[in-house]
Amino acid sequence: MSRASLRKSLCILGIGLSVVLFSVDFVCAQSIVKGVTPRENEPILPIPLHHEVNSAKAKLGEQLFHETLLSGDNSISCASCHNIDQYGVDGTRSSVGIEGQVGTVNAPTVLNSRFNFAQFWDGRAEDLKEQAKGPVTNPIEMGSVWADVIAKLKKDKSYVQAFDNIYEEGITPDTVADAIKNYEYTLTTVNSPFDQYLRGFDDAITEQQKRGYSLFKEYGCVACHQGVNVGGNMYQRMGAFIPYFTEKNTKLKADLGRYNVTKDDRDLHVFKVPSLRVAAHTAPYFHDGSVATLEEAIDIMARYQLGYTISRQDNKDIAAFIQSLSGEIRRSGQ
Ligand code: HEC
Ligand code: HEC
Repeated sequence: MSRASLRKSLCILGIGLSVVLFSVDFVCAQSIVKGVTPRENEPILPIPLHHEVNSAKAKLGEQLFHETLLSGDNSISCASCHNIDQYGVDGTRSSVGIEGQVGTVNAPTVLNSRFNFAQFWDGRAEDLKEQAKGPVTNPIEMGSVWADVIAKLKKDKSYVQAFDNIYEEGITPDTVADAIKNYEYTLTTVNSPFDQYLRGFDDAITEQQKRGYSLFKEYGCVACHQGVNVGGNMYQRMGAFIPYFTEKNTKLKADLGRYNVTKDDRDLHVFKVPSLRVAAHTAPYFHDGSVATLEEAIDIMARYQLGYTISRQDNKDIAAFIQSLSGEIRRSGQ
């Protein structure tokens, strides 16, 4: 082989090698970018970024959710107690309904409620559609009767049109509830720092939040607060470790929890485990709204549900972790 052709061969080999090396490099670089390996086998799952929504129904539902005609004296809408800009709650211990009447239980958020396996603190509504029919006729919430609500809505041509476009039956209690349900389906909080962390972005949460998550698992909070909604997928007793209600100074019928639904003694003081997804923003806490701060709620949980007195530092770390669970509020049409 002549020197020239040897040089040519070496050169071709060199180019070949560079191509191979470049390719290796490229593939590696790709996998570094992709280096985001989702964390699997965790007891908490990220909220899906997308889900199917019927936008026409959701849009109508959004309007109905903010519609005061649904109440007896046209003063109250669902949003009065579930203010979407306030993380789906009203920030009060127990909500004020029609004619200033005060209820006995705290309004839970409507955000992410689609992920709960049942609705209400005691799970008495099976799903969001069934739930949506409740407040309208509840005497201390919206204090109306369906026949009046339907008659009022039928006077508004734009409602008649909108319902006729979507539902064969037009305006009925069922279609009103169905539209509201579809709106509530859109109310999810996606892309929270914690969900990003679960999706493999290590720096999405702080070191303190990582410690908080470890503590949340180690103390055993995850036994009850777990899944997509960090709650909302089981019933549990309030006071699983130490009786809670014997030490409580107010006695409410709602304290009996799921017993009110089943009349089974085993369901005494049993509640749907609430979601902690936006809990950082929905004080006051518990079914009776009796606890003003997240810190206090964490102390009570550690003591009554698990039998621990936790340090200030552990409490703060867990609170920081709960902060990381809140994502962007998605709304209808977005
Ligand atoms: C006067 C205040 C008030 C009004 C008005 C009101 N709610 Fe509520 N909502 C509450 C309270 C309080 C609860 C908890 C009741 C319980 O669990 O016994 C609740 C519970 C819920 C829940 C269950 C959430 C969960 O996690 O269990 C949903 C969903 C909901 N409301 C949606 C609505 C819709 C839709 C409307 C309008 C049709 C509405 N609310 C009107 C106060 C109100
Ligand atoms: C045995 C099941 C169980 C365990 C374990 C548990 N919880 Fe709870 N958690 C519940 C139940 C049930 C409620 C509702 C109690 C009520 O309303 O009276 C609740 C309520 C809460 C609330 C208030 C939410 C709201 O919107 O009002 C927070 C915050 C909370 N838990 C955090 C924690 C933390 C942090 C831990 C671990 C230290 C923990 N929980 C352990 C079952 C549990």
